[in-house]
Amino acid sequence: MNPQNIYILAIESSCDDTAASVMCNGKILSNIIASQKIHEEFGGVVPELASRAHQQNIVPVVDMALKKAHIEKSQLTAIAFTKGPGLMGSLLVGTSFAKSLAYGLGIPLIDVNHMQAHILAHFIEEEDFKKPPFPFLAMTISGGHTQIVKVKSYFDMEVIGETIDDAVGEAFDKSGKILGLGYPAGPEIDQRAALGNPKAFQFTKPKVAGLNFSFSGLKTAILYFIQKQVKENPKFIEAHLNDICASIQYTIVGILMDKLKLAVKETGITHIAIGGGVSANSGIRDALKSGEQKFGWTTYVPKFEYTTDNAAMIAIVGHLKYLEGDYAQQNVMASPRLKI
Ligand code: KG4
Ligand code: ZN
Repeated sequence: MNPQNIYILAIESSCDDTAASVMCNGKILSNIIASQKIHEEFGGVVPELASRAHQQNIVPVVDMALKKAHIEKSQLTAIAFTKGPGLMGSLLVGTSFAKSLAYGLGIPLIDVNHMQAHILAHFIEEEDFKKPPFPFLAMTISGGHTQIVKVKSYFDMEVIGETIDDAVGEAFDKSGKILGLGYPAGPEIDQRAALGNPKAFQFTKPKVAGLNFSFSGLKTAILYFIQKQVKENPKFIEAHLNDICASIQYTIVGILMDKLKLAVKETGITHIAIGGGVSANSGIRDALKSGEQKFGWTTYVPKFEYTTDNAAMIAIVGHLKYLEGDYAQQNVMASPRLKI
């Protein structure tokens, strides 16, 4: 064993994915995720069921991450875990497990902010992926979060805009529910949008001052529109599904891009990194590419497996905090509302 090597075992359990990853010197050796299918039939995450599933999954997932990395527990340098934000019951499982394991092995324990991790996922050592230079803007978009963050250095970040109600992923998922699509609906809306006319139907964008977002009004507008149309034509949804999806996606992407343009204008920063499950959306990816051509932006999209909730992003924060000697105390607690 090379004593220079830093091996981090990271654990993520903030929402409905139980994940573990092993990293060596910033490179991922394993990245294991057990996604909980149980929530699909409820059309959203059920917190009580999520914590039970975490408890069932945590040991096998960690075991698999170590085996896949060909690493023994005794080789680990430190254990990193998600402290928050997230669901309390879910966070408690990962936190308790990480604390016990670090204590048992007699190695440092490192607490990680999940929102910082989505952003710092860009610093995982990966060939063919460029890292954003400081300062940059990070837009974190998922089923649980919508934020624009000014990133001045690894641990100096400022949230300059965020949603005041639903997250952008919820806007996709709740619209999908109205249309009778499965959960989560984002990927299907994206696929159907490619086959539809984005200007077929118009939905008013919310008027929120500054860099904050709001998506709950859009969801209501879509609901009323669909109810009205279905009253006149019971087959309206099936007759126009692709056009409806394209129009919804066009509106959501427009909302995100308007705020991003404003953020660039206000900060003068043109390096833009995205993260979170919604960054898989092809409409957003296309809009960012056109931002490169039209406005001279440089955009950064991480490898897909590092955009959705995962433990590799927790591992890179663990690695960076380990280098700074920034460890957690033994009495550290899960923190559901942890801020950046
Ligand atoms: O990051 P993630 O896996 O989990 C958290 O919410 O933290 O993100 C899941 C969200 C869901 O709302 C899902 O509908 C959305 O990401 N999503 C997409 C796409 N792929 C996933 N939304 C739009 N287009 C997609 N291609
Ligand atoms: Zn997340």
